[in-house]
Amino acid sequence: MRAAVVATVMCLAACTGSGAVPRADAEMATRSGQDLNILSRGRHVYTTNCTGCHALYRVADRNAEGWRDIVASMAPKAKLDERSRSDLLAYLQAAAR
Ligand code: HEC
Repeated sequence: MRAAVVATVMCLAACTGSGAVPRADAEMATRSGQDLNILSRGRHVYTTNCTGCHALYRVADRNAEGWRDIVASMAPKAKLDERSRSDLLAYLQAAAR
């Protein structure tokens, strides 16, 4: 039981931690000129809707243009509605390299 909790915490840190999928914070909002609520929702879309078929890709491995193309091809696979799709893109581009 304890081990399972530890494993879960470690996976959260490794899979969705600040490195690969950085938290949306005030600094990111200021840097990107995006609303923090939109960025937080977009990150949530990424961590909950984009894990069905593969692990999460490091956001900083792609630039804004790369993520635009990825979202165009992956949003239909994840069956995202319009708002989720635009929130996701805003987050990925704000956290892109
Ligand atoms: C229904 C399954 C499925 C879902 C859901 C899905 N993907 Fe994918 N994804 C794939 C497959 C299959 C590939 C590898 C083949 C390809 O590139 O089409 C892939 C590849 C990728 C790649 C690497 C592409 C490259 O060219 O390097 C990224 C980045 C990615 N997905 C992001 C996302 C994001 C963001 C979401 C959420 C919106 C998502 N995926 C949801 C199936 C899925």
